[in-house]
Amino acid sequence: MRLSIVKVQFAALLAISLFTNRAFAQSFASSCPNIQCVQYDDKMEPDNLCLAHSGDIPTTSIKLRNCNDLPNSVCNLIEYDKFAWPNVTQQFKTNTSMTDPRQSPLFGKQLEVKCTDKNDLLETQLQNGRSCLEDIQCLSKKCDWDAGICVGRKINQTCKDHSQCNAGLACMAARTWPFTTTCQAQLAENVTNCTSDFDCANNMGCIIVVDNRTQVNRCVKYYSLNGSTLFTWDQEQYNLQSNLTTFLNLTKEAILYHGKFCKSGFANRFSLNRAQCVDIDNVRLSNDVNTVVASPYQCRADGSVICIYQTGNLKRFSLQCECGFDSTTGYCPLPDQTFMSNLANYSRSLYDGNQCHTLDRHNIIAQKECGIGQFVTQINTSVKFQQASDYQFQLKYWTFTRTVESYSCMNNIFPTSQLSIMAFAKSLVIIRNLVITLSVLSASILFL
Ligand SMILES: *[C@@H]1O[C@H](CO)[C@@H](O)[C@H](O)[C@H]1NC(C)=O
Ligand SMILES: *[C@@H]1O[C@H](CO)[C@@H](O)[C@H](O)[C@H]1NC(C)=O
Ligand SMILES: *[C@@H]1O[C@H](CO)[C@@H](O)[C@H](O)[C@H]1NC(C)=O
Ligand SMILES: *[C@@H]1O[C@H](CO)[C@@H](O)[C@H](O)[C@H]1NC(C)=O
Ligand SMILES: *[C@@H]1O[C@H](CO)[C@@H](O)[C@H](O)[C@H]1NC(C)=O
Ligand SMILES: *[C@@H]1O[C@H](CO)[C@@H](O)[C@H](O)[C@H]1NC(C)=O
Ligand SMILES: *[C@@H]1O[C@H](CO)[C@@H](O)[C@H](O)[C@H]1NC(C)=O
Ligand SMILES: *[C@@H]1O[C@H](CO)[C@@H](O)[C@H](O)[C@H]1NC(C)=O
Ligand SMILES: *[C@@H]1O[C@H](CO)[C@@H](O)[C@H](O)[C@H]1NC(C)=O
Ligand SMILES: *[C@@H]1O[C@H](CO)[C@@H](O)[C@H](O)[C@H]1NC(C)=O
Ligand SMILES: *[C@@H]1O[C@H](CO)[C@@H](O)[C@H](O)[C@H]1NC(C)=O
Repeated sequence: MRLSIVKVQFAALLAISLFTNRAFAQSFASSCPNIQCVQYDDKMEPDNLCLAHSGDIPTTSIKLRNCNDLPNSVCNLIEYDKFAWPNVTQQFKTNTSMTDPRQSPLFGKQLEVKCTDKNDLLETQLQNGRSCLEDIQCLSKKCDWDAGICVGRKINQTCKDHSQCNAGLACMAARTWPFTTTCQAQLAENVTNCTSDFDCANNMGCIIVVDNRTQVNRCVKYYSLNGSTLFTWDQEQYNLQSNLTTFLNLTKEAILYHGKFCKSGFANRFSLNRAQCVDIDNVRLSNDVNTVVASPYQCRADGSVICIYQTGNLKRFSLQCECGFDSTTGYCPLPDQTFMSNLANYSRSLYDGNQCHTLDRHNIIAQKECGIGQFVTQINTSVKFQQASDYQFQLKYWTFTRTVESYSCMNNIFPTSQLSIMAFAKSLVIIRNLVITLSVLSASILFL
């Protein structure tokens, strides 16, 4: 077994070196880490590692391994910013004289990630509304045993933040002095004067839409705005460039954060304080601007090539070409318009069926219990949940899931992948049935 893997690795190395040599001649080489799924690795196995990063910049290798040989365990890759993962902005800017540790993409990141007990990882620190069996699983430290969910403060009770309130409620201030904060029902569509997305129902965010109404914040449905609609740009979170000449230099995160209000899934920055919904119909590369590239937009990830996203001849935003799964092929960081429109449709059904706590609205794992994931026994809902989780996972790891092999590897290892999410949802159905059987059993024992 080991021998054959070594052989495969060797063959891969050979193929890469052949490719890069040839590609260098054509000046078309991506210098990205080689990511691979391994069955066995003598360094990873003894420590139950599921991710091992080579620890260098530019990064040369990342190995992934699934946790299936340990019962009830998953790879702890839920929080994206806690583990080391290729970051093209930093991959090519290595400079050993740099003195600011924050410039390093490895600073504060785990180079090794372990297989973790599924219950420890997924069934603790739960928001109100999540399924529980014991108090200790809940952030509120209170599991309502009749309902089987974590509970906190009720409507009209005083609160200091959202997490204290029950699902369906948000911690909101009175409109007048002394602005006392209490748990109140989340606001409905078009209700004005919200202060954040979390004040609104789970399928809406809090923005000013520039239309014929009074220009105040109101609750607006996600993925609902038409092309060209103008709305608030979140200057607090996304103001890296407040300089007018560079404010069009957007990040992928900023585009998607604002794009989730648009039917198209994409928004650009129209002015310092305005975002605009945009449809993208062609993508070009800075090293060959006359050619329209076909999705999934392959490009050379070496820190120099920029992907230009356009509507007709109008440039909407540009983003650096990013590393893909294998070291030789890079991709533009965001998908095509068809993918994004489908993502918008499936995400809408996910948000519309979202009865989770306001802070769990974007938590795909929570949706198995308090969102449409609780109805996976119905075939249509199951398909919607599966599609929604797949589109969201692929968007998150777009450049790393572009081939059948890489998609299959990632899908098997990441706990937020479609495969893992559906497995959790199904295992939950089984656990629920078990709990019911047990309680019926204990009831009958009591009766005896
Ligand atoms: C490397 O970083 C140092 C310290 O920040 C800086 O003075 C130097 O110009 C940088 N060198 C290059 C090639 O960017
Ligand atoms: C890449 O690294 C830079 C600097 O460390 C950071 O600001 C940026 O958010 C990172 N990008 C991603 C996608 O993690
Ligand atoms: C909450 O307080 C409001 C205003 O005092 C009152 O009208 C409402 O009935 C209260 N709701 C509940 C469920 O007690
Ligand atoms: C909210 O406003 C939008 C845009 O004007 C409109 O399409 C929608 O019907 C309104 N919703 C409600 C519940 O009033
Ligand atoms: C919303 O806020 C605006 C500006 O602060 C204020 O004029 C308006 O009365 C508020 N609307 C409601 C319904 O409280
Ligand atoms: C705003 O009002 C103008 C004039 O009444 C109308 O032509 C236009 O369609 C309206 N725009 C929107 C977005 O409703
Ligand atoms: C958005 O566009 C659709 C179709 O063109 C139209 O029916 C709808 O009224 C528009 N909505 C708004 C809020 O302008
Ligand atoms: C804005 O950024 C550009 C490019 O970094 C720089 O040349 C210019 O001086 C900056 N302008 C201001 C007002 O800071
Ligand atoms: C960001 O802006 C600078 C200066 O305007 C430009 O040189 C650079 O190519 C831009 N980066 C991207 C990714 O568009
Ligand atoms: C998304 O849903 C809308 C309305 O339900 C539909 O008109 C549109 O064709 C759908 N888009 C895609 C790409 O399926
Ligand atoms: C499931 O979807 C199909 C096709 O859209 C539809 O014909 C069927 O009635 C749906 N079933 C349920 C139970 O909603």
